[in-house]
Amino acid sequence: MKVKKSDDKNLVIELHKKTFPCDEFDDSPSNEYWIVWNGKTPVGFCILRPLKLDKDSVFLSRAGLLYEARGKGLHRRMITVRLRWAKKNGYTSALTYTARDNAQSFSNLQKAGFRLYWPENLYAGKNFLYWIKTF
Ligand SMILES: CC(C)(COP(=O)(O)OP(=O)(O)OC[C@H]1O[C@@H](n2cnc3c(N)ncnc32)[C@H](O)[C@@H]1OP(=O)(O)O)[C@@H](O)C(=O)NCCC(=O)NCCS
Repeated sequence: MKVKKSDDKNLVIELHKKTFPCDEFDDSPSNEYWIVWNGKTPVGFCILRPLKLDKDSVFLSRAGLLYEARGKGLHRRMITVRLRWAKKNGYTSALTYTARDNAQSFSNLQKAGFRLYWPENLYAGKNFLYWIKTF
């Protein structure tokens, strides 16, 4: 399986529909996309967005894998690939948030060096956990 940078927003939207069937796609012109490929078959995606208000930081937006691609360590690779891109492009920190019951995500974020924090502005609401990593 390979995690590759992509400009194919339509493919990301298609994968997003399959992995987040109840959620709207968070469209932004500054989104950066990656697709996970199993040979020639797309099985997942992830998104990063540089933050407008904090020029040093990126936001790790959605990551989703089709069922058959889960449990193989791909989420961790999707975190790593985005952190590598952020560092290479001069950013010094990465932020994200997770649902409180998303054990896979917070396990993977912790292993990638993220720590919990409590931002002044709880931009996703009180029911989420907020994560930060500085490089
Ligand atoms: C979230 C998602 C990307 C995780 O993908 P994944 O790579 O298959 O993750 P895994 O199932 O391998 O789990 C990752 C880790 O969490 C651990 N984990 C799983 N369930 C756990 C639990 N209940 N408690 C503690 N740890 C748990 C696993 O052991 C694994 O760690 P390990 O590799 O050290 O063994 C995938 O489940 C998905 O696409 N879900 C739907 C979309 C979504 O919710 N995305 C996240 C929000 S953006």
